Amino acid sequence: MSQPYYEDTSPGYGARPARAAFTTDAATAGLGGIWRFHLSPAADLAPDGFWADDFDDSSWSLLPVPSHWPLHGHGSPVYTNIGYPFPLDPPRVPDENPTGDHRLVFELDDSWTREPAVLRFEGVDSCARIWLNGQELGVTRGSRLPVEFAAGPHLRAGRNVLAVRVHQWSSGSYLEDQDMWWLPGIFRDVTLIRRPPGGVEDAFVHAGYDTSTGRGTLRVDAVTRDGAEARLSVPELGVDDLPAGDTIAVEGVAPWTAETPRLYHGVLATGTERVTLRIGFRTVAVEDGQLRVNGRPLLLRGVNRHEHHPDHGRALPAELDREDVLLMKRHNINAVRTSHYPPHPRFLDLCDELGLWVVLECDLETHGFSAADWRGNPADAPEWAEACLDRIRRTVERDKNHPSVVMWSLGNESGTGRNLDAMAAWVRERDPGRPLHDEGDHECRHSDVYSRMYLPHDEVEAIGRHAEPPLDDPDADARRRSLPFILCEYAHAMGNGPGGLAEYQRLFERYPRLQGGFVWEWIDQGLRQRTPDGREFFAYGGDFGEPFHDGTFAIDGLLFPDRTPSPGLAELKKTVEPIAIRAAEGRGDGRGRRIRITNRYDFSDLSHLCFELALSSDGLPVLAKPLHVPPVAAGESAEIELPVLPPVDGEGWITISALLAEEQPWAPAGHEVAWTQLPLTEEEQASRRGTGPRPVPAPRRRPDGRLVLGSGEFDGRSGRLVRLGTMDVDGPVLDLWRAPTDNDRSASLWGPPDDSAVRWWRQAGLDRMVHRVDEVADGPDGVLVRTRVAAAAQASGMTVEYRWAADESGLVLTVRVEPAGDWPGGLPRLGVRMAVPGRLGQVRWFGRGPGEAYPDSRSAARVGRFSSTVDALQTPYVVPQENGARADVRWAELSGGDGPALRMESVGLPRFSLTARRWTTGDLESARHTTDLAASDRLFLHLDVAQYGLGSASCGPGVLPAHRLQAAPVTWSLRLSACG
Ligand code: GAL
Repeated sequence: MSQPYYEDTSPGYGARPARAAFTTDAATAGLGGIWRFHLSPAADLAPDGFWADDFDDSSWSLLPVPSHWPLHGHGSPVYTNIGYPFPLDPPRVPDENPTGDHRLVFELDDSWTREPAVLRFEGVDSCARIWLNGQELGVTRGSRLPVEFAAGPHLRAGRNVLAVRVHQWSSGSYLEDQDMWWLPGIFRDVTLIRRPPGGVEDAFVHAGYDTSTGRGTLRVDAVTRDGAEARLSVPELGVDDLPAGDTIAVEGVAPWTAETPRLYHGVLATGTERVTLRIGFRTVAVEDGQLRVNGRPLLLRGVNRHEHHPDHGRALPAELDREDVLLMKRHNINAVRTSHYPPHPRFLDLCDELGLWVVLECDLETHGFSAADWRGNPADAPEWAEACLDRIRRTVERDKNHPSVVMWSLGNESGTGRNLDAMAAWVRERDPGRPLHDEGDHECRHSDVYSRMYLPHDEVEAIGRHAEPPLDDPDADARRRSLPFILCEYAHAMGNGPGGLAEYQRLFERYPRLQGGFVWEWIDQGLRQRTPDGREFFAYGGDFGEPFHDGTFAIDGLLFPDRTPSPGLAELKKTVEPIAIRAAEGRGDGRGRRIRITNRYDFSDLSHLCFELALSSDGLPVLAKPLHVPPVAAGESAEIELPVLPPVDGEGWITISALLAEEQPWAPAGHEVAWTQLPLTEEEQASRRGTGPRPVPAPRRRPDGRLVLGSGEFDGRSGRLVRLGTMDVDGPVLDLWRAPTDNDRSASLWGPPDDSAVRWWRQAGLDRMVHRVDEVADGPDGVLVRTRVAAAAQASGMTVEYRWAADESGLVLTVRVEPAGDWPGGLPRLGVRMAVPGRLGQVRWFGRGPGEAYPDSRSAARVGRFSSTVDALQTPYVVPQENGARADVRWAELSGGDGPALRMESVGLPRFSLTARRWTTGDLESARHTTDLAASDRLFLHLDVAQYGLGSASCGPGVLPAHRLQAAPVTWSLRLSACG
């Protein structure tokens, strides 16, 4: 049997040379819309002759193009991370090769028959064979790469028929093993573009900037048809009719940076075509061991972005590219790695326009070859050389004119090999103006930056100090040691997390060699589905019945699949904020406190910001006023004196915010960029002493055995509080368990396998503790309940004492926990839980908020008064797990329905964090999707004095030692009352 074209390792045939994407005044015709579609389960079952003009497709389905057919009811998506979803037998693919035939009939006027034209596909996954009016144009592979075919000679005035056969699997699939859904289809635009004789074939803008002189240099190289002359005009710069290929110096030009994305509009014209160019002047270089733009080092506050939409997959609706860029800018993100392929070109237009540093990655990943010890890796094997080169050519050629693109990336997780070497050599030659990144090139044979993923903090620090373990070859070692370092992926944002962002950021800010990194990843790759009764949830691997899949592993973004920001994004925004505001020593002349403001932008001064100071007392606003801050230059600091503030009665906090002074293209005036909170000092804080518990009648035992103390009733045997005022309650009792997070469930990437936090916790029986009551005593001081809490088969246990006293405003509970024995894995949580009536669905609290906070992900939570509903306190992680804790609660009130409110107060330190949900931890733990969680008629409250951190062990390091909750004796108090 001869090998079918879709198993040929070549890039395809028939395509025109790759060129830059540009906007032209030549006529174009978009061919997106509703097409006819037919799916065959195998390539050899696809209908013969469907490309013929007169083929009868009237019985075929209708399908929007661009789209992925599995998201329109034809077949289903498949999710894998590393392993290929077919046998590793390159370049062969399975007989079951879903093949989608697409047909479009369209009309053209006769002007289209007079000039050459090309048919351009921006992306077809994974292999397409194309016919126009019955004539074959060619075959293409390279799913996320553009391809053009000469179409002119085949076009007709009137009716035209475009037929495209798309195979889900092809040799190209071996090069496209990115961690994402396998989604075949014509998923990006299809366009006919007129190519006038004497027009522009290609243009390459070279626009450099020299900070020391403020001078730009400009040259546009052009390839034209028929030897035509092309000339450049940039009216704003007084450039008029500059011949292509000529270099000029441009005085006084404003440079392009991601912070100040200044674009100049140029036109490259021949006699027959005008091409619009957006020119940004900047010079990118690795010099003195740093990645620099316009001579200044960058600190990349980046994210890895897959194109994903919960209904459309990678056929992203146009407006979402803008939404992504806006969301990034508003969250202080300044860089994006287009993991792991070139995005839709309009995304890059937006990066140019709104300002993001882009690491532009080629569509290449061969990770699944790791299963065969990389034998036959297409990144190395000679038969794949042309396919690899073709991919990098199409990448660079398409996107070479984007000022936002500051680095080319050869691909992801493709090992090492000769084809990567050849790709690198080609890029160097073609575009010496941009450094090169290659994720798998750990020895930096051709990378200009040392780049790794998920390294733990201590190793990153060692690299920061140039003290990483040496390579065997001293020359290679010296070269690598001289290079800047980035984390091309870090802080795996799977489920609740990532924890440890702040610690990474401190390293990046401290060591000049560390130039930041890219959080993995931007958005959860969940697909929207409905339960039979119509409730929406997000599906992951396995939900479509795939026999081989990687489950929940692509649900690891900073956005939920519907683009709602997760708490992880709030944490990232705060952690990477470009202005640091800290308390400084001493007082100013006016005797106000001093603060130090550090400008962490790479280029901008602070003149685009205004600052505001607000004073609060017990979370209530006391005053707010503008704060004058000088326009501190990038990288510099200034100390300023705050006005003298009046004393306040309650707990006083000063909040200082940096806000946009004026509207920016990416956010309105007043948008908060950075903030900090400083506690009011003792002397400014008026003293206010609590009244302390006053004696109330001692507890009494009722004939039914219940103990009554103040407003509380206790079960006489268990000592549990069962009623508070008129409210039925159950608890509080010690609780040490949480519904494991994705990170809890995973062993650190860098430790022994199986070494997850959960494994230790389960081994210690923390998920199945039983409570034994040793004593329930009542006396003049109140009620004392002594218990021992331990798990079957375990000698270790906790002695827990609950001391209840009453005062006029309620019951005061003091809990004393004394661990005995070993708890080597620490504890998921330490606190009490109680059940209360479900009507209490409204929450108000004074503490940290508005969002959740965990020990190593809490910088975004500020001290204040907040209100919410219990339902809105839940963070809807696609895979249900621990969530929603509100930290450092001074007091909280739950209210609603008919009956009193429940008030909970911290008495002294430590304060509790509050979690309230309508289901138990067990329910949360066993749910696979959000729709598995059913509200009960009670609320389950957790009042914790501590929780284990989050870390990012789901792919990376676990929780840093400082954030691991170890078992230790602890005593804390809280007041409970029913009020209103
Ligand atoms: C990296 C990979 C990403 C993704 C991530 C885990 O190794 O480059 O594509 O798989 O791990 O989510």
